[in-house]
Amino acid sequence: MNIQLIDTKVFSQKNNLTLKLLTQAQLKKAKFKKTLTKAGFDATEGSVCAMHGKSLLFCGIENFEDDNLRAAAASVAKTIKSYNYKSLSIEVNENNITPLIEGLILGGYEFNTYKSKPKKQKIKTIYLTCDDVDALKNLFEEAVILSEATCFTRDIVNTAPDDMYPKMMAKLAKNLAKENNLECKVLGTKELKKENCHAMLAVGRASRHESKLIHLAYKPKNAKKIISLVGKGLTYDSGGLSLKPATSMVTMKMDKAGACAVLGIIKAVSELKLDVEVHAFVGAVENMIGGDAYKPDDVLKSRKGNTIEVRNTDAEGRLVLADVLDYAQDKTKPDYLFDFATLTGACMVALGQYTTGVMGHSSKLKHDLGKASKKAGELTATLPFNKHLKKQLKSEIADICNISNKPYGGAITAGLFLDNFIKEENKDKWLHFDIAGSAYTESPWDVNVHGGTGAGVRFMTEFLKSI
Ligand code: BES
Ligand code: ZN
Ligand code: ZN
Repeated sequence: MNIQLIDTKVFSQKNNLTLKLLTQAQLKKAKFKKTLTKAGFDATEGSVCAMHGKSLLFCGIENFEDDNLRAAAASVAKTIKSYNYKSLSIEVNENNITPLIEGLILGGYEFNTYKSKPKKQKIKTIYLTCDDVDALKNLFEEAVILSEATCFTRDIVNTAPDDMYPKMMAKLAKNLAKENNLECKVLGTKELKKENCHAMLAVGRASRHESKLIHLAYKPKNAKKIISLVGKGLTYDSGGLSLKPATSMVTMKMDKAGACAVLGIIKAVSELKLDVEVHAFVGAVENMIGGDAYKPDDVLKSRKGNTIEVRNTDAEGRLVLADVLDYAQDKTKPDYLFDFATLTGACMVALGQYTTGVMGHSSKLKHDLGKASKKAGELTATLPFNKHLKKQLKSEIADICNISNKPYGGAITAGLFLDNFIKEENKDKWLHFDIAGSAYTESPWDVNVHGGTGAGVRFMTEFLKSI
């Protein structure tokens, strides 16, 4: 779909549907109140009513705050898919243009790669009409870049695991590097062995696809800060020998969503030309079964040099991240270090499916990140570390165990496992984002449709704009 910003005076209404957002208070005084009420339209959040005789579409909204604008625009984008107009138009101003664009693009998103006959949408263009195009041009372009980067992340998450294995992730990263002028380095088995990434390599050992560590870098000339992003890129998580039950395995193509998020973030940041140096590190691995598989009872030596007792091969993400976090901290001296991972089912139990779990040591950083996510329209909540939960990772035979010895606090113990691989000087610069719930959905909510949501892209880009 094409979105255009256009001067109200030059805009042609021919075969166009005009969108009007209405609060319940506005409905009471509206010109078409009687007709709309007859049609059952009560202007509740997300309700829509078309008046085709007048080429008007009404959408209910609680108030004109960003979250509501985004959600209303998303429900409009879904509604108009079956309409036979040529275009849709809506009047915009500096207060509503950003969330409206995000809602329209993200809510209207479709993943049609595997559909033989995808339904064609008649409405090809959405016109955002305004009095002063020049004044809104920047906001317009920024919102389009961010929304499209989020859709880019969604596309990779949604791609089937046999089409998006580690080598393909590396290929995609190389293409992105070419298009956006980024540096790109890819490490395969040989290089990973040299780097002593034995924990990461163990996870991918039973896969027919070679594991890859991908490093992308965006280095603008006058950058004042360095940010290192690390993403869990399990292109498939079968659980390994601690095999997942059949129903839990479905959707595990999304276990690469952390990697997809960091790729989307570096795409957005480089296109927005933000004045920050950003490094994206991806651990792309497939967790499979076979005679060569790593096993519960194995003891792995991590890149950092400590030993890990494997008690569950389904707690694989933290093993990959252990090595990639260590590598990232050796190769860069970041002002901020963030990792994104669909790490634990426990995070969903704790916070529900809509909220990203935020963990780390610095209260200030957690607070600032919370502010950015609120502004971006993503839900985040902090999960607190404590020394008692840390003890649950104790191993009798190695330095640490890859699972907790108690069934509670699983999202936090996973975060505490990662903490073991954060260097002392980076403790207060680091945050871990568990996007297990927020990265993927099988039922639409807010601006999200079935599949990858692009969780992390909007809040991290907003945070990077704010520093
Ligand atoms: N990739 C999963 C976590 C996950 C579960 C993400 C559901 C999205 C939806 C992760 O690798 C995993 O399997 N974690 C285990 C950890 C356990 C063995 C300690 C889990 O959450 O059950
Ligand atoms: Zn797993
Ligand atoms: Zn996993």
